Amino acid sequence: MLEGKRILLIIGGGIAAFKALDLIRRLRDRGARVVPVLTSAAEEFVTPLSVSALAAEAVYRDLFDLTNEAEMGHIELSRSADLILVAPGTANLMAKMAGGHADDLATTLLLATDTQVLFAPAMNVRMWDHPATRRNRAQLEADGILFVGPDEGPMACGEFGEGRLSEVPRIVEAVEAALDATPSGAASLKGRHVIVTSGPTHEPIDPVRYIANRSSGAQGVAVGKALAEAGARVTFVTGPADVAPPPGVEVVRVRTALEMEAAVMAALPADAAVMAAAVADWRVRAPATGKMKKTAGQGAPALDFVENPDILARLSQHAERPPLVVGFAAETETVVEHATAKRTRKGCDWIVANDVSEAGGAMGGSDNEVTLITGSGAEPWPRMSKDAVARRLAERLAEALEGTS
Ligand code: CTP
Repeated sequence: MLEGKRILLIIGGGIAAFKALDLIRRLRDRGARVVPVLTSAAEEFVTPLSVSALAAEAVYRDLFDLTNEAEMGHIELSRSADLILVAPGTANLMAKMAGGHADDLATTLLLATDTQVLFAPAMNVRMWDHPATRRNRAQLEADGILFVGPDEGPMACGEFGEGRLSEVPRIVEAVEAALDATPSGAASLKGRHVIVTSGPTHEPIDPVRYIANRSSGAQGVAVGKALAEAGARVTFVTGPADVAPPPGVEVVRVRTALEMEAAVMAALPADAAVMAAAVADWRVRAPATGKMKKTAGQGAPALDFVENPDILARLSQHAERPPLVVGFAAETETVVEHATAKRTRKGCDWIVANDVSEAGGAMGGSDNEVTLITGSGAEPWPRMSKDAVARRLAERLAEALEGTS
């Protein structure tokens, strides 16, 4: 529920702007106060009057609206909110935010605020896929902006693909998750040492080939970042990932599972460990020292695999075991049952269970829908960005460690 929450809703210009009306209604149904801001492009799609009527609030439109400035300056307007929601968010708004532009009321509010921003993009699939938009998104995520969607489906322009504004209930869920995940400052990880593993491992076949699990490293980076922001000293042990390590952590770069295991054990003692790496379960027993050549008629080489150490399981049994050991479980079916069994088998305290089936959409995406498995059961979390999952996890870690020495 959103009782007592104040949400500043910035409505961008786009055919999906009409959905903002339903969004306002649903947010208010849940107890939120919604203060709407319309960009001038949005006014081409929805009228200030209908927005104002549904929100039961004055609509803010113009930076130089003196009446409004007298009532509430734009700085105050943006900071008094518990959350700023941009829906629909256009490619143009993303670009302006990423570049720090402030040439109208909406962009000025977004630049002037220190409040959490949740962005629900809606645009043509080509615009969404454009390298410029991808760059802007990466920048905004690095700046701590949360995203919900866009979804895939038919578009108003007749094309099909990713770019549709997320369905209203999904945006409402993301709003709730974002508000829940906004650091309360209650528990902190100051003075705590946390080891994080992240990314894939690469197990060499020969000097140019390897086997690996599919993993961008995005969730591990989000975890490292959230823990560091909560005040922890983080040892971030990462395999060769697509994404850069987060700022403010001690980075240990490794390649193979054996190297990752050694780096984790060398980082002990620690108050907690979060194992988000997608460790390859097997390695080639004897990688070739030179590049293996194709020889006509000889067929494919046979590879002899040996099992890699299970770093999570070994850490859980270690003499210097951290008081709190958290694993991730990538599952494609019966997620909770498999993850619950995995928790017992590996001897860790918590498992963050992750649906990596096609339908789950976690792989390579920016959102995640996870279930936290603890000794007291399974706790499904709503779908939220990987950053929001990480922040919530950091908060839970802080709470669990509170009061321990
Ligand atoms: N893990 C690890 N070392 C390994 C394999 C996995 O530390 N050699 C950790 C991962 O970082 C993750 C957890 O164990 O936190 C679960 O990984 P997952 O791949 O889901 O589990 P597996 O043990 O590979 O189980 P299965 O393949 O049976 O699903």
